[in-house]
Amino acid sequence: MQVKVVIGTIAFMLVMIILGVAALFEPARLQATTDAFAGRQVEKGAQLFRENCVECHGLEGKAQDCVDFTGEAKGCVGLPLNHAPLLCGEPSTRLQQINWQSSKSNYIAQTIAAGRPGTVMPTWSQNFGGPLGDHQVEQLTAYVLNWANDPELCGDVTVVEQVEWPESWEELPQGDAAAGPGLYQINGCLGCHGDPANPDSATVGPHLGNIANVAAVREPGVSAEQYIYESILYPNTYIAPDCPNGPCLEPSVMRADYGTVLSLEEMADLIAYYMTLSNE
Ligand code: HEC
Ligand code: HEC
Repeated sequence: MQVKVVIGTIAFMLVMIILGVAALFEPARLQATTDAFAGRQVEKGAQLFRENCVECHGLEGKAQDCVDFTGEAKGCVGLPLNHAPLLCGEPSTRLQQINWQSSKSNYIAQTIAAGRPGTVMPTWSQNFGGPLGDHQVEQLTAYVLNWANDPELCGDVTVVEQVEWPESWEELPQGDAAAGPGLYQINGCLGCHGDPANPDSATVGPHLGNIANVAAVREPGVSAEQYIYESILYPNTYIAPDCPNGPCLEPSVMRADYGTVLSLEEMADLIAYYMTLSNE
């Protein structure tokens, strides 16, 4: 009897010791599993992104280098996603601007799932009639959020500095029209408004080949330069009447974040360039 109690007690203590040691290592094991899982999510997201998103958001999500499904280069119509104002800080500058009340990952997941009505951003989740399952939306979200880990993107910066836009274009620095075409291309304007020399090349926004004259008469009492300035900063203040596929939609399909993308100098260059676009 005595011996059994002693053996029982020793066995019990041994089990407790083994469990204790296992518990000690458990957090590390869990962390490794979680990291591996997160890594796989990002990898799968990258694959889905290449298949579905680069056409509009670009190879690295920078809204540059967009390619269609044959691998042919094309203008980018999507917003940059690998982009400090969207990804850095919680809330990021972008989310503060639109007064988003929930998390960044929620914002990205919901935008992917439901798309953006009134814009060309498609609906992706099967819950909204799109092609992808919930776990694929999660993988894409993990992939997009993963760019925030790039120290060159966010570094120590938590809030991205905002340009203060003056009310009048006249307070901008002197513009250089020669810098315009490059800016027009890298900022995605070309993707929607087409080549200013070719009226048939506009796809989403009005062709701008004669914008210097058009802008002068759009709004009574507003100069051409001021109209162009406001069109770029606040696309919804005035909706142009005619787009390539019929009347322009309201709210505007034009990217509304150029106020966070362009510098004062770049804005001035774009306006100066547009003032040279006239078909007379
Ligand atoms: C046909 C073009 C197109 C495709 C394809 C596309 N997008 Fe978009 N996406 C857009 C446009 C345009 C917007 C901006 C809509 C707006 O103005 O609010 C956008 C916005 C977004 C946003 C919100 C960005 C922000 O700053 O608010 C996210 C996130 C996003 N897209 C992710 C994706 C992902 C992931 C895919 C692939 C599964 C994808 N998009 C495919 C055009 C596209
Ligand atoms: C996602 C597509 C898209 C992108 C990218 C885009 N635009 Fe637009 N833009 C539009 C649409 C659609 C309209 C017409 C609706 C409106 O007035 O907002 C428009 C209107 C304009 C107008 C007014 C045209 C008129 O006839 O009154 C100007 C000027 C303009 N955009 C300049 C730019 C510049 C400069 C860029 C790049 C920095 C740019 N847009 C990028 C779609 C786009």
